Amino acid sequence: MKYFKEIITVFECDSTMDLAKKLKNFFNPPFVLQSNIQRFGRGQYGRSWNSNFGGLYFTEVLSLEQILGFSTFLSIPIIRVLKRYVNSVKVKWPNDIVVGRKKLGGILIEKSDYVYAGIGINVSNKVSEEFKKISARLSDFSEVNELHLFYEILDEEENLINEFLRNGFKNFVNEYNENLIFLNDEIELESNNIYRGIVEGVGIYGELILKTRDKVERIFSGTVLNFYK
Ligand code: BTN
Repeated sequence: MKYFKEIITVFECDSTMDLAKKLKNFFNPPFVLQSNIQRFGRGQYGRSWNSNFGGLYFTEVLSLEQILGFSTFLSIPIIRVLKRYVNSVKVKWPNDIVVGRKKLGGILIEKSDYVYAGIGINVSNKVSEEFKKISARLSDFSEVNELHLFYEILDEEENLINEFLRNGFKNFVNEYNENLIFLNDEIELESNNIYRGIVEGVGIYGELILKTRDKVERIFSGTVLNFYK
């Protein structure tokens, strides 16, 4: 049986995050909402997300007992599918999808009554001047239709989600680490503090394990500094 009960597609909306929050009154979660265009796509930290036609924009509405590790888990089906088109794709902890130093996609998790997981991937959409220098698009590497990509990602996630629901992220740790950019490299990271250390990978909750000068830190949220060039 499929996990997602409905897949709803619209041509345009403000943000699939907001529309999904309205639609949960009419559809029973878990469901997925995809839009071809977003007028006001949102990114992490209150940033805007370029959402012109040609990109992939969707939100999953789920009811999860355990959210810990979910956002890192979600990178796995995305990375598996994107690798079919661009082999050098990597994940930047916790869940930016990157090619080299450029961002190809991102995940935004919002939690209220349900978990709302928004996924945005640049495919052949026009990227504004402001973001061009730090963005990659899948069409720069391969020809792929964004809706085809959407169904490939959902299929892959359907294959994996029962394992996540049963055992959490722990059985995905190795695959995540194999695809993690900066594994064994020194990084600077902003969390409640600024940390500098060697990336040892992620743990079973998706937390980053960072070997600093004096100890091994386990960091549950944060941003790698000075990444996009
Ligand atoms: C990030 O900043 O890395 C996260 C970007 C998430 C963008 C997606 S596109 C679909 C969904 N709707 C939104 O408004 N944002 C997310």
